[in-house]
Amino acid sequence: MAHADRHQMIQLHNIHKSYQRGSLLVPVLRNVSVNIKKGEFVAIMGPSGSGKSTLLNILGCLDTADSGSYTLDSKIIQGASEDDLAAIRNHWLGFVFQSFNLIPRIDARYNVELPMVYAGVLPSVRQKRALAALKIVGLADRATHIPAHLSGGQQQRVAIARAIVNDPEIIIADEPTGALDSQASHEIMHLFQQLQASGKTIVMVTHEDEVAAFAQRIIRVRDGEIADNKNEHIQK
Ligand SMILES: Nc1ncnc2c1ncn2[C@@H]1O[C@H](COP(=O)(O)OP(=O)(O)OP(=O)(O)O)[C@@H](O)[C@H]1O
Ligand SMILES: [Mg+2]
Repeated sequence: MAHADRHQMIQLHNIHKSYQRGSLLVPVLRNVSVNIKKGEFVAIMGPSGSGKSTLLNILGCLDTADSGSYTLDSKIIQGASEDDLAAIRNHWLGFVFQSFNLIPRIDARYNVELPMVYAGVLPSVRQKRALAALKIVGLADRATHIPAHLSGGQQQRVAIARAIVNDPEIIIADEPTGALDSQASHEIMHLFQQLQASGKTIVMVTHEDEVAAFAQRIIRVRDGEIADNKNEHIQK
């Protein structure tokens, strides 16, 4: 019964999104519907410019669709205020990007603490939680290193520690291995699998088949539409 009727975490229905380019309104996502279950690890793939990041930004409540509906763990996202979206991002979502986005002059631990600084968490609590997150990503012994003194793979692991430090339900990752060699990429994917095993839902954009193979399912985007791939589950 373990897999019976798993809870839907993300339900996007008939999403449309256009961007203004000069005097033109250019459609970027057309009629996009996506369901992702709690605890799934999904890879989004597709050609450059097909709308993957746009879709991921909508999923991550960083951007909003022009029309269609979006429900995240039964919360209605479509039409939510900026403040509500910010609160949802802080509590439900953790973000990982290709370029790590760490602050250069502060050490790994303080980079991981930053989301809690903004949330007003006490310093002693922050430190403990940041160290615990660094331990999960295997970097407890690098807590006092600044980003420049860490490898690319280690920097991305610090970014993942920062993404998970508020214990989000969902991890949103846009080409998290795009700047890494294949060994570091594999390490990051093993870490994602470990996070999935701990119950997180993971949605990741990638260009690389080898990286997508770590996910359970691939959603393909082509010209702003979901290609017909409803049953593209990866055989393990
Ligand atoms: N803020 C924006 N303003 C105007 N156009 C945009 C904006 N963001 C994206 N676009 C356009 O929307 C389309 C899809 O962009 P998107 O970044 O989602 O593609 P992508 O699939 O992530 O591509 P890549 O693989 O290169 O990252 C592109 O044509 C892009 O130029
Ligand atoms: Mg992109």
